[in-house]
Parts: sequence; C-alpha cells; structure tokens
Amino acid sequence: MNHDVIIIGSGAAGLTAALALAEQRKVLVLAKGELTGGSTAWAQGGIAAVLDAGDTFENHIHDTMVAGAGLNRLETVEFVIERAPHAIDRLVELGVPFNTEDEHLHLTREGGHSHRRIVHVADATGWAVQEALLKAANANPNITLLPHQACIDLITGKHEARYSGSGRVWGVYALDEITGKVVAHTAKATVLATGGAGRVYQFSTAPRGATGDGIAMAWRAGCRVGNMEMMQFHPTCLYNLEVKNFLITEAVRGEGGHLLNPRTGHRYMPDYDERAELAPRDIVARANDAEIKRDGLDYVHLDISHQPADFVKGHFPNIYEKLLGLGIDMTTQPIPVVPAQHYTCGGIMIDLAGRTDLPGLYAAGECTESGLHGANRLASNSLLECFVFGEAAAADILARWDEFDAPPPVRQWDASRVTDSDEEVIIKQNWTEIRRFMWNYVGIVRTTKRLERAAHRIQMMGAEVDDYYGHFRVSTDLIELRNLLQCADLIVRSALDRHESRGLHFTLDYPKLLAVAKDTVLVP
Ligand code: FAD
Ligand code: SIN
Repeated sequence: MNHDVIIIGSGAAGLTAALALAEQRKVLVLAKGELTGGSTAWAQGGIAAVLDAGDTFENHIHDTMVAGAGLNRLETVEFVIERAPHAIDRLVELGVPFNTEDEHLHLTREGGHSHRRIVHVADATGWAVQEALLKAANANPNITLLPHQACIDLITGKHEARYSGSGRVWGVYALDEITGKVVAHTAKATVLATGGAGRVYQFSTAPRGATGDGIAMAWRAGCRVGNMEMMQFHPTCLYNLEVKNFLITEAVRGEGGHLLNPRTGHRYMPDYDERAELAPRDIVARANDAEIKRDGLDYVHLDISHQPADFVKGHFPNIYEKLLGLGIDMTTQPIPVVPAQHYTCGGIMIDLAGRTDLPGLYAAGECTESGLHGANRLASNSLLECFVFGEAAAADILARWDEFDAPPPVRQWDASRVTDSDEEVIIKQNWTEIRRFMWNYVGIVRTTKRLERAAHRIQMMGAEVDDYYGHFRVSTDLIELRNLLQCADLIVRSALDRHESRGLHFTLDYPKLLAVAKDTVLVP
C-alpha cells in the first residue's frame, strides 16, 4: 500500500510529526499494539521549558550540559531549548490542561534543574499529552491511524522488485497483529518514532513494547547508532513484588521528598552530593544502588510525609491513590523504592532536521541520538525533544517534497518457506535470559569482565535467534526478541568501547573521566 509519508510510532514524537505533515500530506501512522502503548502515555513529571521570569535559556542549556557530563552537542541543546516555549504553546492550543497557579502555568522542579521549569498535568502529564495529540490526529482527515501493526524491517533499495542497490528507504514491512499477514507499506518518506529499548533490562519503568525496534531496524538497514551505553536508570521505581514497574516521579523529590536508609533512617543523599536529592539522576541512582548493596537491603525509602497531607495529595493524586491501593499512605509513610532502567539516551544518529544516514528515512524522539542528552538526560527534557524533532522532521520532509522520488515496486513479504513455530518456549527463555544478564552485567555499575560475559552470551544467543527467525512465521514476540538482542549487542559493544566513566556509563575498570568528551558511534 502506498502513502505520502509513513510514521512508525504513535507517541509524542510520531503524532507531533503527523500533525505537522498532515497540513499538506497524507500520513499513515503505524503502531504496535494500542495507540497509547508507548512511554508517552506513562510520563509523570512533565515537560521542561523556560517560562519563569527569573529563568533563562542559558540556565536550561547549562543544566542540560552539566547533567549530560559534557557529551551533549551544544548546537542541539540550544536548538531544542529555545523551541521549548513554542512547544508548550502548541500543546496548550491542542487542549492539554496544564496545572496553573495565579493564571500562570505551575512549574514544578526536578533533579539537575537550577530553576522551577517543569510544566505538568498533576502527576500524569503523559496521559494528558497523549490524549490531546490522539484527539487532534483522529480529527484530521489527512491522518490514518493504524494500531496493531508490528513493523519488522525497513524496505530499502535491496527490496526493490528491480534491485537498484541504493540505500534509499521506501517504507516498512509490518505484521498485522490481528490478521497475522505481513504488509509492505511504501511512501516517499518514513519517520521512525518507535521509542526506547528499556525492556532490554529485567527492571524497567518503560512499557512492555519498549524493545528498541526502531533502533534495531535502522541499524539493520544501514544507519549509524550512537551512545547506546548511556542507559538511564531512574532512582525511584516503586519496590513491590506484584507491581513491578511503577515510577514514583522525581517531582516528589522536587517538592521536598527525602531519601532515607530504611535500616538507620539516615538521609544519605547530602553525603553523596551537595545537591542532595536533586542531583542529576545518574548520581542519585548510583547512591541508591550503593546503599542497597552495602547494607544488603531490598529497597531504600522515599519520604515526603513531612509535607502537609493536602499538599501531597494535591500534587500527586494518581501516585497517592495507586499507593493507597497497595497499602501505603504516602502522606504518613515512606515509599519503598529501587532504581530501574528508565530511558535510552543513545540511538539512531540524526541531524537537526531529524535526518538519518539513509535517504528518505527520518527519526525523532527516544529512538534517536540527537545530541541533546549527552551522557545523561536531564529530567523532563525527553518529551520536549519529541515535540521539537517531530516538528523539525516534518518541516524538512515538506520542504524537500519535490526532491523525493515516488517509491518503485517492491518485493512482497515471502512467507512461503517458514512454518508455525513448534517451540514458543525458546522465545520466552531468551527474553528472560537477555533481560537478566543485561541487568546483572550491564547495569548501573559495570566492569569489563561483566561486559565481556554479556557479549559472549549475546553471540551464542544470536545464532539461535537467527535460526528461529529464519524458520518460523513472525510474531510480535519474535520480532521483539530479535530486536532486544540486537539492542543488547549495540549497548554492550558501545560500553566496551568507552574507556572512561562518564554520566550514566560507570565502570570500575576506567573510573576516571577522559579530558575530551567523545560520542561512541557504531557503524553497520
Ligand atoms: P513512545 O511514546 O515510547 O512511542 C513509541 C511508539 O512506537 C508507540 O506507539 C509504539 O507502539 C510504537 N512502536 C514501537 N515499536 C514498533 C514497531 N515495531 N512497529 C510499530 N510501532 C512500534 N519524559 C519527560 O520528558 N517527562 C516525564 O515526565 C517523563 N516521565 C516518564 C515516565 C515513565 C514511566 C517513562 C517510562 C518515561 C518517562 N519519560 C518522561 C520519558 C518519555 O515518556 C519518553 O521518552 C517519550 O514519551 C518517548 O516518546 P516517543 O514518541 O519517542 O516514543
Ligand atoms: C519523572 O517524573 O520522574 C520522570 C521524568 C522524566 O523521565 O523526565
């Protein structure tokens, strides 16, 4: 099926691009599972933007570079931060009901920010943003939203019916999760907005579908990926044996919450950093990890019970209700928390127009390495990145429209030599194994020996997964397993390449910071 533009992903990046493109072009948006299945709908804290009279772009740029440990690209940081107020205005126009105070947007605070600059919708900002974007997209006659489409691989020059050998991207093969058929969707331009790869780790705040599909597809098609070792761990994921990935927003610390050692009651963050609980995330996550490992704890405590009950309930109504349902009253009790994987800082290399290395292929949002986050993302800068790069990619596609050729005939998906799987257990076993060794060997604190062990396992599993993929009909689980393994490989190779500790990459074998900050760029 042919379209003007295909967007893979219906989160903040994908829908922002779709709405901008739909002013002139017909857009198809494909999403795995439900349209609300990405991380966007789960975002809690908010969106960072300079909106306070006492704040400046320079402050936000400085905070972003400090959190990113100097690995950020200054040009990108300036590009994004200067466009933040416009992005917020757009969201207000779309009807996002941000919290206000005295007729101004209420600004909360998060770690690494020197000023209050986070606009939010209570503690469920992402859901409000996702709803507003979906409502606008649904109402737009130029946008077709197609959920339950698990994209498998990009269609490139090598899939043309008459092989041209070009690296041009012409669309994507997608598995219709309802009918089980694979369809070739073609277009003049394709945008990857597939989110992160958090589920490569056993413990993650990210949704089930965050399996790095876009990063893996782009890599297989020939794109460079950068800084994949920079995996962000959030310091405060709820510790609960039943509810495994419920985030407790950083804004709880922003509004006065303290981290306490549950054994001694000691507030330990001032011992680790002068910014205490509001130090950048890598520092707080490592401190929590150190307390847990040193004292053999299951968790640490996050305590905001010293604030008035109405203040806590007013700021965090959803978290309060959720915890109450689990028997924890956060207005009177501390919350047990642990660090968990949260955000993929690296990804597909893009320029300021969202262009990847391949003609016809753009990317935006968490699946990219734009240069904004460097070695550690500053809290609430990621939704912002989605809005800015979603618009930038759309603007570039529209500006170049006349240069784009129409897609040639491409080969249809060939399923004639595969059969139904007789051993689904292999998929489950490999999923569990990858996520466990990535957590244990490629986590918050790394060593070369552990990374090499992970690399060895990835190599062994690669042959098994390739064999399985070559013989059996594709399913979403199999597509995801293949991509998880691909991303695990990219993360481990990048981590082995970095011979220093910078930001999120902390290794006992190279504890020092090198004088020059350099991206880790892998070339297919
Ligand atoms: P996503 O919103 O993740 O969307 C990805 C889309 O791609 C989905 O539609 C998915 O179905 C689709 N997709 C993936 N693979 C395929 C495939 N193979 N085929 C077809 N479709 C596919 N950031 C902030 O700035 N502020 C916050 O307060 C904040 N809080 C967060 C809280 C949580 C719990 C989490 C997990 C993240 C949070 N983040 C926050 C990060 C932020 O939510 C994400 O970085 C951002 O939403 C990513 O948006 P995206 O559009 O790039 O991808
Ligand atoms: C949070 O609310 O703590 C998450 C914010 C973010 O990831 O940017």
